[in-house]
Amino acid sequence: MEGTAEVKASRQQAKLAMEKGGVVVLDFGGQYTQLIARRVREQQVFSAILPCTTPLEDIRKLEPAGIILSGGPSSVYDKDAPKCDPAVLAMGIPILGICYGMQWVAKNLGGKVEPAERREYGPAQLNVHKVDSHLFKNFPDTMKIWNSHGDNVHELPPGFHATGRTSNAIAAAEDPKRKIYTVQFHPEVNHTDRGMEILRNFLFTVCNAEPKWSGSAFIQETVEAIRTKVGTHHAICGLSGGVDSTVAAVLVHRAMGDRLTNIFVNTGMLRKNEFEHTLEMYRDRLGLRVVGVDASEHFLNKLKGVSDPEKKRKIIGGEFIAVFAAEAQKLQKKEARGDIKFLVQGTLYPDVIESVSVKGPSATIKTHHNVGGLPSDMPFGLIEPLRDLFKDEVRRIGKELCLPQEILVKHPFPGPGLAVRLLGEITSKDLITLREADAIVVEEIRRAGLYEKVWQAFAVLLPVRSVGVMGDGRTYGLTVAIRVVQSDDAMTADWVRLPGEVLEHISTRIVNEVPGVTRVVYDVSSKPPSTIEWE
Ligand code: XMP
Repeated sequence: MEGTAEVKASRQQAKLAMEKGGVVVLDFGGQYTQLIARRVREQQVFSAILPCTTPLEDIRKLEPAGIILSGGPSSVYDKDAPKCDPAVLAMGIPILGICYGMQWVAKNLGGKVEPAERREYGPAQLNVHKVDSHLFKNFPDTMKIWNSHGDNVHELPPGFHATGRTSNAIAAAEDPKRKIYTVQFHPEVNHTDRGMEILRNFLFTVCNAEPKWSGSAFIQETVEAIRTKVGTHHAICGLSGGVDSTVAAVLVHRAMGDRLTNIFVNTGMLRKNEFEHTLEMYRDRLGLRVVGVDASEHFLNKLKGVSDPEKKRKIIGGEFIAVFAAEAQKLQKKEARGDIKFLVQGTLYPDVIESVSVKGPSATIKTHHNVGGLPSDMPFGLIEPLRDLFKDEVRRIGKELCLPQEILVKHPFPGPGLAVRLLGEITSKDLITLREADAIVVEEIRRAGLYEKVWQAFAVLLPVRSVGVMGDGRTYGLTVAIRVVQSDDAMTADWVRLPGEVLEHISTRIVNEVPGVTRVVYDVSSKPPSTIEWE
């Protein structure tokens, strides 16, 4: 029954029914495009991000209730400025233009955009005009907004009137007859007061969108898309022990069953007992087909003498793929697994935005993490089902997939693992020290009932020795730093004001129970300017 034409057709219909009546976000390359899509999903409205160059008929296929034009790093007058088909403005579908989206609308409908005398970045005050705008209905006269633009709309197109201004510029304008709404600021970021209300007003008052999108819809849609992509091929998945790769694997397992083989590599950089414990969970509780590969010695050898953090990351990323390729080959030969063509990864949106351009002409921000570390000649096609999601959305999807709570609340852990928490050269002795100290930090944080309240809590082993006394003797021991942070999405983070007694328990236990450590310090830096990890 699974593969019959009727079943396929009805699945396809269900998928289209779910997507219809949502919002299409046309991407001009803004940093916040995904955030816009996510904000729409938060309102249970389906959202699809499409490159701004998408042909009208592809947009029409989704039968969107509304179209949002994203921000972008260009000026509308740049030679290579990204463009939509201007006919998008005449489709009769309500439009919300944000930042560059507003400028593009203004330019295309006969208004004027010019470089601002004073660029506006960061917070500003919006003076809301007392007009009967759907977007700002019942809003106060003034509110705080978040800007990020160098150009301004100087002259509105015919049919438009301003609905809000900052002290420098027109900040919002609309043509309610054509249902085209524009804002120069970013309603999707938290720093804009009532930003969600603006988006809700657009979605539900202007577009009459239906709040019918859900985690289960995402699962259904993703499973379907994976089936189409992989056809009859096989795939392997790199499990890391974290929530992202686990959710990715379970989703892909739903799509292709045991044609997915998961590989869980012990890089030797995992936390205390993590390899054995997690392997058991994958096999026994999640029913995944998983091969455990203990390559800890191999990784340790490759890392010998290396203390530069970027080199450590590259080596681990590279070796990881090499171990994978070797396992895939073994599987291919020994078990007649067929051709393994795909590699599944639990990459999330924050990894992507910090690594490479997102869909459309988005500007690259910085090379980062495991994504940037992948060699370009990797022999697999990628399946990254969580690429558009944020961490909390992944956790929600995991819950919907009935994953054990233990995995849903697990703190994020970097791909290179303890290698970036053991500063300088890595030795097996220091790894044991760090693992023991880290286990104490996590245990005490749990005991204090804080594990699920903080983003990450871990130990870092510093390459710093300091003088101390123990009993009657002088010591010259190791230093452990404790890092406990709060964050929403790892893009920014603050250190957690831990109660003194929790710090005391951690510190006392570490110096008493972990041989060689005589000093414990608490990291009180936020991100930015620091990062969460030390390397
Ligand atoms: P930073 O240190 O950049 O970390 O503030 C942000 C978040 O990402 C995790 N992290 C990594 N994750 N590979 C990963 O998969 C990496 O190389 C890596 N480095 C940092 C970090 O734990 C935090 O949650």
